[in-house]
Amino acid sequence: MIITIDGPAGSGKSTAARKLAARLEVPYLDTGAMYRAVACAVLRAKVDPDDATAVARIVSTIRLDLDCGPTHTRVRIDGHDVTEAIRTMPVSAATSRIAPQPEVRKRLVEDQRRIGAKLGSFVTEGRDQGSVVFPNADAKFVLYASVEKRAERRFQEMTADGEDVTLQDVKNNIAARDGVDAKQWAPLLEQDRATLLDTANMTIATVVDELMRELQTRGLLSDNP
Ligand code: DC
Repeated sequence: MIITIDGPAGSGKSTAARKLAARLEVPYLDTGAMYRAVACAVLRAKVDPDDATAVARIVSTIRLDLDCGPTHTRVRIDGHDVTEAIRTMPVSAATSRIAPQPEVRKRLVEDQRRIGAKLGSFVTEGRDQGSVVFPNADAKFVLYASVEKRAERRFQEMTADGEDVTLQDVKNNIAARDGVDAKQWAPLLEQDRATLLDTANMTIATVVDELMRELQTRGLLSDNP
């Protein structure tokens, strides 16, 4: 069974996808981590993220390893663990600059399909998982919340991790990424192909319960109540 969860930054989709995967006892694919890893490699190579030719060279040569467990994803670039390094603000900002580049998307979409084929049953999370990467998924969800709510959540996560940021910085970063990102997941809604969940006033536990309920309603959990 393939379940896709798409939506904007801070909509709660990463945590929801991870917890849903744990409930279903299947792996979880964090595709944002892959885009972040490429951005991290670009910054480490001191390449301008807007230089698509140089970025394409990097993306065609790096080795990207993902360890997709039910509760965690560890990411390595050319053997170096970057799991924590990819979560910083400079990497987030560079990620939204490299993510729209066709060569980057081509390589990562191929990688995601290859990983998916190996995993078989999994929950995947990103922006284009239901629309582009796994159009034949068994269930597709889009999680959403207002930019204010999402910024608040990200800010709390980042300060808990010891990052020195202001709420306004985080809000600006999220708002800037929204414009680019929405192009990936908006088509799912327009074509009425995904179930939309507004998570603004929901706890993560409620979100996961809602996702499970939807899977149950569709008869997808008959062997896995
Ligand atoms: O979900 P996240 O915040 O970790 O995503 C990081 C960035 O990668 C974000 O700017 C959108 C981009 N991304 C994408 O373009 N396509 C995906 N499937 C996943 C993430």
